Amino acid sequence: MSVRELLYLETTGQADSLVPKISSAGWEVCVAHDTAKAREIIDSRNIHVGLARLDQSADSNREILDLWPFSGHMEWVAMLSSSCLESAKFARLITDYFYDYHTLPADVDRLLFSLGHAYGMATMTRTIRQDEEKFSDYEMVGASDVMQELFRAIRKIASVDAPVLITGESGVGKELAAMALHERSSRAGGPFVAVNCGALPANLIQSELFGHERGSFTGAHQRKIGHIETAAGGTIFLDEIGDLPIELQINLLRFLQEKTIERVGGTKKIPVDVRIVAATHVDLERAVEEGRFREDLYYRLHVLNLQVPPLRERKNDIELMARFFFDKFSKEKRKNLKGFSQKAFQAMMDHDWPGNVRELINRIRRAMIMSDKRLITPQDLGLHTTASRRRMVTLDEARGEAEKAAIQHCLARTRSNISRAARELGVSRVTLYRLMEKYHICA
Ligand SMILES: Nc1ncnc2c1ncn2[C@@H]1O[C@H](COP(=O)(O)OP(=O)(O)OP(=O)(O)O)[C@@H](O)[C@H]1O
Ligand SMILES: [Mg+2]
Repeated sequence: MSVRELLYLETTGQADSLVPKISSAGWEVCVAHDTAKAREIIDSRNIHVGLARLDQSADSNREILDLWPFSGHMEWVAMLSSSCLESAKFARLITDYFYDYHTLPADVDRLLFSLGHAYGMATMTRTIRQDEEKFSDYEMVGASDVMQELFRAIRKIASVDAPVLITGESGVGKELAAMALHERSSRAGGPFVAVNCGALPANLIQSELFGHERGSFTGAHQRKIGHIETAAGGTIFLDEIGDLPIELQINLLRFLQEKTIERVGGTKKIPVDVRIVAATHVDLERAVEEGRFREDLYYRLHVLNLQVPPLRERKNDIELMARFFFDKFSKEKRKNLKGFSQKAFQAMMDHDWPGNVRELINRIRRAMIMSDKRLITPQDLGLHTTASRRRMVTLDEARGEAEKAAIQHCLARTRSNISRAARELGVSRVTLYRLMEKYHICA
């Protein structure tokens, strides 16, 4: 059996006779007299259990809270005087953060028993997390009919090699769908390269996609392999394809037709075997009508289409997804935060989700940090319950609400690109920052 390592946080500075007793029961005890040392021990060793001696001073509370974000994989046991337990502050600290507690003077046998259990619990939690982490980054959750339909379409489309266009509002899971498609295709062993066409500077985009030869333009000191070539044998995901400058659309079209690329400044045509998956949250058909997107490229890309439905059209999935993300981010939460209240689920059902799954994730993560109760409330999620929504509002409040919603919507759509959001909203960036502060909106 491997050695069980224990962190003993002892900030009271007293010489302690407990250490030899715990050591003789088979633990390797690492003693820390302050948080910095405790951090060092947590980072460098394989600690499952922390034992903290708390005293009346407020400092010991702070010490342990400072450590919390770094010790999510551990279980903590507290030792404190019985008088501490009378204070609500201490009671809360214990119930929120500790697996067990012992009053001083500690009964060593009982303490060892408790440390053993804490070790067992920490080990089990790690096993579960490792198992979840294997999937959760790419896992697409959804039991609703529309999502089941999407999963079926992904499986079908994965087996052919034609280009795919994924459409859907911002934050619905287009990139996740593209990854799922790649994972299920015969190219799964090859690379998956994601490129955001909207985020690349216009003058660099051609060389980013197709590469360049040395000396082909000022600053091109070395040959550069572009994203398309990097993705050879796999899939290239062209996100925000609607933002691809019109003059480059012809190059992409040529690649789709000939399956060869030419690096900027190069003279050879280089064959590249790559599958193109493109995504857009704008209406490409309209962009074609307005002359911003080439019709021939549109039809080339649109051979196969996956539509990822907005969250408001799959509300039956919300509870499932909320629980999924709660588990996924559980490392960041307090110990006694157990889940969502019924009202929270109801509020999530009532909400319209303009920012879709990304908004759901953001609200849940925020709520998990902000909540100070056992269950997350609608307020923690920043959502109103139906009852509070029916309350009479003044015109000023209504205006404020509308303004806040418009900003949130726009930030979700532009993925928190402040300059773009400010432009779309018709205000200056300074004004947008001011309004975000006013409405407590985080970018
Ligand atoms: N069905 C789902 N199950 C689990 N996680 C999901 C699901 N759909 C989306 N997500 C998660 O939501 C976030 C947003 O998804 P993604 O980036 O794929 O959306 P998108 O449609 O590409 O957004 P944008 O248009 O803003 O680029 C990601 O963290 C993704 O992992
Ligand atoms: Mg995306």
